[in-house]
Amino acid sequence: MTTWTRRHIISLADFVPDEYNTVLQTAASFREVLSRRVKKVPTLQGIVVATLFFEPSTRTRNSFELAAKRLSADTLSFTPGTSALTKGETILDTALTYLAMGTNIMVIRHREAGVPLAIANEMDRLESQVSVLNAGDGQHEHPSQALLDLFTICSLLDPDLPRLELLKDKKIAIVGDILHSRVARSNIWSLTASGAEVHLAGPPTLLPKLFASWGMAHQASPVPPTSPEEENSPLPITHYPLPITQPKLFLHWDIEPALQNADFVMTLRLQKERMTQHLLPSLREYHQRYGITRDRLKLCQSDVKVLHPGPVNRGVEISSDLMDDPQFSLISQQVTSGVAVRMALLYLIGGGKA
Ligand code: CP
Repeated sequence: MTTWTRRHIISLADFVPDEYNTVLQTAASFREVLSRRVKKVPTLQGIVVATLFFEPSTRTRNSFELAAKRLSADTLSFTPGTSALTKGETILDTALTYLAMGTNIMVIRHREAGVPLAIANEMDRLESQVSVLNAGDGQHEHPSQALLDLFTICSLLDPDLPRLELLKDKKIAIVGDILHSRVARSNIWSLTASGAEVHLAGPPTLLPKLFASWGMAHQASPVPPTSPEEENSPLPITHYPLPITQPKLFLHWDIEPALQNADFVMTLRLQKERMTQHLLPSLREYHQRYGITRDRLKLCQSDVKVLHPGPVNRGVEISSDLMDDPQFSLISQQVTSGVAVRMALLYLIGGGKA
């Protein structure tokens, strides 16, 4: 493991393998702490962690708060509906208020891409030592979700030493509403960095053309028409720096080639709240063409596992019975992993020594 130098975690675009492995191995240590009778360590005593969630959340918010408490940090929880935002206070003034109260780590979720970065830049401009953790910003990124997905998969392959290299040449299908998915974007960075083959599948309206014209995607099918939402996407993926190695990223408008011999299938929620156009004929037809079912999993490796970041539209992107089947589903393990991984992130950016 290397010495951790990153103050903020906004995106995985520039994460290097050593950083991924440091997170995985630190999370494995905290998983051990969480298996003890007393699941608490004094590591972040005196540190104040504020969860500033301007958009709803169940998993991310609660697991960050639990992670902070397990590390003995003091926690502050912001709820927009009962805050001074309703009286016209700006987001930046809200962040400055938390800074003035002595907050050390701000965990920020917002429906607009770029808000966590803007606050991190302001904290740096003020020469404060505050760290900002992106807990999901619009359609941009959700780094802690992708890291807990990575930890869940790698822990399955080697529980004692989860590490990035375990995924080399594994086939991972990401299926569904990729256009609106910050989870997909962060996972593409982490999974391609591992050397895995990443196959994206979805209807043309939900699988952005920009992914195909990224200059590094190997097109498996003709480029679909650009959707109006994609044209207006706040952070076009072409703005990202290109990685050093050529990632193995494939696009499919049909689901079958993506699932063929896949080791892992990650299905994504249809984000109806972000759809301003009619991008689908019906949820029933979507399920028929792209829903993950037992029948469809027969195309995959026999020991295939299914992930979903949650929350799930049961019977739409995944059949309800499959979601609850422990033979295939890693969904509850993902939630459990979330606490250990978020403890690792708070510990590392909070100045803990690896
Ligand atoms: N996966 C995820 O971000 O879930 P929440 O919206 O419940 O935090």
